Amino acid sequence: MSTSFSDQNYNRSVIGRSLVDLNHLSSETIHSLFNESLKLKTEYAQNKWSKQTELKGLAALLFFEPSTRTRFSFESACVRSGVHPLVLDGGQGTSLEKGETLEDTVLNIEAMKPLFFVIRAPDEFPFLQLAQQLDVPMINAGWGMKGHPTQALLDMLTVYEKFKTVENKNVLFVGDIKHSRVVSSHLQLAEKLNYQVGYCCPDSFMPQQASLMNPRLHLFNKLEQALNWADAAIALRVQKERHFGEKLDLQSYVERYALTPHSVKALKSDALIMHPGPINYGVEMDQAITRDPRAVILNLVQNGTFLRQAVIQSVLNGGVFQ
Ligand code: NCD
Repeated sequence: MSTSFSDQNYNRSVIGRSLVDLNHLSSETIHSLFNESLKLKTEYAQNKWSKQTELKGLAALLFFEPSTRTRFSFESACVRSGVHPLVLDGGQGTSLEKGETLEDTVLNIEAMKPLFFVIRAPDEFPFLQLAQQLDVPMINAGWGMKGHPTQALLDMLTVYEKFKTVENKNVLFVGDIKHSRVVSSHLQLAEKLNYQVGYCCPDSFMPQQASLMNPRLHLFNKLEQALNWADAAIALRVQKERHFGEKLDLQSYVERYALTPHSVKALKSDALIMHPGPINYGVEMDQAITRDPRAVILNLVQNGTFLRQAVIQSVLNGGVFQ
């Protein structure tokens, strides 16, 4: 199966049933996902969710790359939506070990007619192509370095919950920006919701020059200036598995870019400190930062379950992702 399916080649009205990227979502659709997520959160706190959980069917959650938060959060969201999740976790013990392709794995599981797929897969996976060809809608749960739409959505849900708007907010990324699919999805989301994106990282973590021409982007050399600018500071994990043998000077990274009790003094008093997890403590942040009153790292995880539940409900209702 060819993986060179370009953006022009696929039919957006079919792909709108699926959530592969954020390029074609409207601001209204995103705000209705946010408002639905917050409504679900309130209902969950009031213990109302159990009343709506008659079994609707099965979903196939295929995680071809490692995951903790995203997988459990989609599993929770499925159960809360009355959908039983069938999970492939990493592929150990499956026919992938016999050389079966990811595409064939998906096609065979599609034959069992799940209500939808949730898929985490490497860059080469033909997500857009399959989303157009298959009858079953697909939700992207992390696609190589290309995108992680529900992570960007849950980050901004948390900003929205705090400030009641995300418009014109300054969202700063500190860390391994070059290898981050979370940043890729934020660039798409920032276009829709009109927020500013800041980068603060060493040259070796900076994406290619061409992608830095975006007028929405603010580049910072000094962590202090960057933190001072931010309404939300998102620290990113140094993605050692994506550096393919490059030598990393972590010591000098920590000295200049780590979030520490000292460096976060530069943040505004009402700013948010975020991290999508997993965290390398002592590299991108000190453990003490998790106790800073501005840190919302576990709130993100909690909000992620409701955001994903809202996405699943939309998928079950035919999708609104265009
Ligand atoms: C991120 C991911 O897997 O893209 N984490 C997550 O989904 N919560 C970030 C990372 O791996 O560093």
